[in-house]
Amino acid sequence: MSDTSSIRADEHFNGLIKQQLERIERMKLDSDWVDYNKVKPVIVGILGGDGIGPFISAEAQLVLETLLKEEVAAGKIEFRVIEGLTIENRAKAGKAIPDDVLAELKQCHVTLKGPTTTPRKGDPWPNVESANVAMRKELELFANVRPVKVPSEGIDWVFFRENTEGAYALGSNGVNVSDDLAIDFTVTTKQGSERIIRLAFEYAKKNNIDKVTIVTKANVVKTTDGKFLDIGYRIAKEYPEINCDDWYIDIMTAKLIDPNRRTQFKVMVLPNLYGDILTDEAAEFQGGVGTAGSANIGKKYAMFEAIHGSAPRMVDEGRAKYADPASMIRAAGMLMRHIGFEARARKLEMALDICGQYEKKLTITGRDTGATGREYAEYVLATVVEAGLQSRWEGYQ
Ligand code: IPM
Ligand code: MG
Repeated sequence: MSDTSSIRADEHFNGLIKQQLERIERMKLDSDWVDYNKVKPVIVGILGGDGIGPFISAEAQLVLETLLKEEVAAGKIEFRVIEGLTIENRAKAGKAIPDDVLAELKQCHVTLKGPTTTPRKGDPWPNVESANVAMRKELELFANVRPVKVPSEGIDWVFFRENTEGAYALGSNGVNVSDDLAIDFTVTTKQGSERIIRLAFEYAKKNNIDKVTIVTKANVVKTTDGKFLDIGYRIAKEYPEINCDDWYIDIMTAKLIDPNRRTQFKVMVLPNLYGDILTDEAAEFQGGVGTAGSANIGKKYAMFEAIHGSAPRMVDEGRAKYADPASMIRAAGMLMRHIGFEARARKLEMALDICGQYEKKLTITGRDTGATGREYAEYVLATVVEAGLQSRWEGYQ
């Protein structure tokens, strides 16, 4: 290896340290949580995304517009469709989020976002950063909250995945020191860890949940995961009524499939990459990633999305209208709850459970052998307004 490549890598690393220290200073300026009751109108941005994204987002938009009709009429809520977060535009701009789209995004209080294609090496697209990852960082959406429920199995989990740091903070800023040596970086900050861990504990407290589990690989990834774990136990002391334990990610992944163990887990808080992996596994119990919604929450902005990808193959094969919109509709429910419509969000969730897990009058197969996304959205909406929704739902539990 030549001296120049080593010097170049050194400079690169120094630049990254500087960038991260500046980020910490920004985190220290920490704003207060937005009070949506005081905002009028609450602006809800709809971003279609790529592949099946625009199709399933349109169904979620229909559900939101129907359930929030009165508020829209009263000027309390405004919907804005934001075009342009497509892979074609991102490739053209050479950016994860084109500037005009980012400016529009910042005008919205909350957004509902369809899946976006994440380019990787070897794709026909330039290898720009994932739009999800960029949005989470740009808007300080530090908490990725992913609930998974299977009442019949006693599964009731909420994952608090750290969303701006870990392996993702510099995921597009690794360094190819030489032909032989590639290095990536993992970042843990005190501020970044405290805010996600505290949110997990606050959630548990508010919902009378008596257990929070911290998941790391601190026995091996000693510095960054070690810090996350230490901060976790320090914060746990502020919540004596909540039991706190910790697991390593490998055994945690195994224990999620152990029916005798998995029901003991309730709230889990974990660094970014482990959260990414574990939540896909967890969603599988509920019927797959197509059924799970995800909330990306910050103090100023929030974004709600499906946890799966854009399935371009479905579009190529002309099957996009048969894509399952359940994940996006679940995300829409989380959005409603976040901006203060708890009761309506609850109804929507019950309807989604009834339609997807119990009654199953329509099934989605992803092809013309099943219902279309529109038919499914209408089925869910019809179930929301049915008399006795709550008791029907309880009957299934
Ligand atoms: C998710 C996705 C994203 C992630 C991808 C699309 C970048 O897998 O939201 O879990 O890794 O965070
Ligand atoms: Mg993922």
